[in-house]
Amino acid sequence: MTLRQLLDVPAPAKLNLFLHIVGRRADGYHLLQSVFMLIDWCDTLHFERLSSGQISRLDLNPDLNPDLKPGQALPANDLVLRAARALQSATGCTWGAQIALDKQIPQQAGLGGGSSDAASTLLALNRLWGLGLNGADLQRIGLTLGADVPFFLGGRNAWVEGIGETLQPIDLQPARYLVLKPPSGASTPDIFSHPSLKRDTPRARIEDFAASCRAGLQGNDLQPVAIKLCPDIALGLRWMAKHGLDARMSGSGSAVFAPLAPGCNAQYSVADLPGHWVARCSSNLQEHPLFGWCKRS
Ligand code: C5P
Repeated sequence: MTLRQLLDVPAPAKLNLFLHIVGRRADGYHLLQSVFMLIDWCDTLHFERLSSGQISRLDLNPDLNPDLKPGQALPANDLVLRAARALQSATGCTWGAQIALDKQIPQQAGLGGGSSDAASTLLALNRLWGLGLNGADLQRIGLTLGADVPFFLGGRNAWVEGIGETLQPIDLQPARYLVLKPPSGASTPDIFSHPSLKRDTPRARIEDFAASCRAGLQGNDLQPVAIKLCPDIALGLRWMAKHGLDARMSGSGSAVFAPLAPGCNAQYSVADLPGHWVARCSSNLQEHPLFGWCKRS
């Protein structure tokens, strides 16, 4: 009898406490400065090792994947499949995997769900296939999948620069946030390529983020363009303001979030908003749930 080799792993979402665009590379990618913060809103991925070398993926919660109609095949650019195949081709590994994804993090939200799924796939298969790659190797592969993937492989909240690959760990106070996701979203490439995007915010220093100056580092340069393409974002920000909450957008949206006062036990109802909005209180994480697997050497 052969024992089945199984592994279940979480993939947490992130919030961008601020996001500045400070330049643009020759290849069109934007140079940014941001603080990326992990939160306790997670997808879960289930892996079974296959000796055939085949990679397959199943959605346990297809309602949360707007790209997927019932019975429809996954798109070729699916990040979980791409992560698994990138790991196979980087290492010559002949194992395969059956992967089931329990999606909880909304898509087109700016919460990094797809990138986090890809990062957790790299971390899990590195173990399940016994590859022994270190965190730096995984981050190099991760960057080929998406600019946010290296952050999730870094394992810590971070001051992020470059296009997303330069990470400095940062300690953040425990805090709770209300996160609100409109039913609509805008495409990340459409936001980044928009002619009216502000791309020349002066560089800040990590020290500027220290408590006394934090108020000055809260803006998201993608927000005005995202609102043009997805007016629901403005509706979410107004709803937050009406409830006395100081909200901003995460990543390229469309989720908006606001810190909750310590001990705040208010219940928020989004019944007055049109369409299907998701509201959730989340706490920040000090480190990735797979932190021990993220070692750089
Ligand atoms: O890297 P990722 O696939 O997540 O990025 C999606 C799109 O967002 C890219 O194709 C690019 O147009 C834009 N982008 C950018 N600069 C970044 C990150 C993303 O221009 N730092």
